[in-house]
Amino acid sequence: MAKRSVLLVVLVVITFALTVHSKVDFTNIKCVSYDKSYVYFDTCLLKAVNRTYKYISVTAKFPGKQPTNDIKVNFAMQRKENGYKPFLYNITIDACEYLKKRNNPVISFAHTFFEKYSTINRTCPYGQQDEMVEKLPVSHINNLVTNVLPSPHGEYAYILTFYLLKKKAASVTVYGSLS
Ligand SMILES: *[C@@H]1O[C@H](CO)[C@@H](O)[C@H](O)[C@H]1NC(C)=O
Ligand SMILES: *[C@@H]1O[C@H](CO)[C@@H](O)[C@H](O)[C@H]1NC(C)=O
Ligand SMILES: *[C@@H]1O[C@H](CO)[C@@H](O)[C@H](O)[C@H]1NC(C)=O
Repeated sequence: MAKRSVLLVVLVVITFALTVHSKVDFTNIKCVSYDKSYVYFDTCLLKAVNRTYKYISVTAKFPGKQPTNDIKVNFAMQRKENGYKPFLYNITIDACEYLKKRNNPVISFAHTFFEKYSTINRTCPYGQQDEMVEKLPVSHINNLVTNVLPSPHGEYAYILTFYLLKKKAASVTVYGSLS
């Protein structure tokens, strides 16, 4: 991204930070493996402990134990309107490149949503050991999101799709609402 467009993104985010005060709530999570011999999910849950504490836990296992540096991640957002339709974001990044350089402000921001609660905090390769997001509190996401996500109220799906060795391997979709 050119410097000028990065600046523009930052300005837009700041503008919305000052004007939008919405609350995000997550309603469901879905993890799909497209090749269970390569990766599958042992845990995939959204758990409400009580009214104020709800968390997300995901554990991915790699039975083949085949480490790779060839990992692409697509992040897409959809908004519900007669079914879920593409909305605002649909970007694909080279995960290993990003983890090495941390040079994409938008992705870095998304990464702060779960990095503290996750094993996805180091450089490649991945695919050798279990990877997890453990007890990521929805309130943590709320604190980051509510003031900056330039989204109108509604129901959303946040979809992460993982491509390992150029093949679609898995996806994690979190459903939520902004009110
Ligand atoms: C909700 O559960 C958490 C973790 O067990 C606890 O720390 C918190 O006090 C509970 N909140 C309420 C309102 O019960
Ligand atoms: C993202 O865009 C690609 C290419 O246009 C499309 O194939 C894919 O379905 C989109 N993803 C989502 C989740 O909407
Ligand atoms: C990454 O996360 C794991 C598990 O939470 C932790 O043990 C490790 O120290 C972290 N590594 C870095 C570089 O932050």
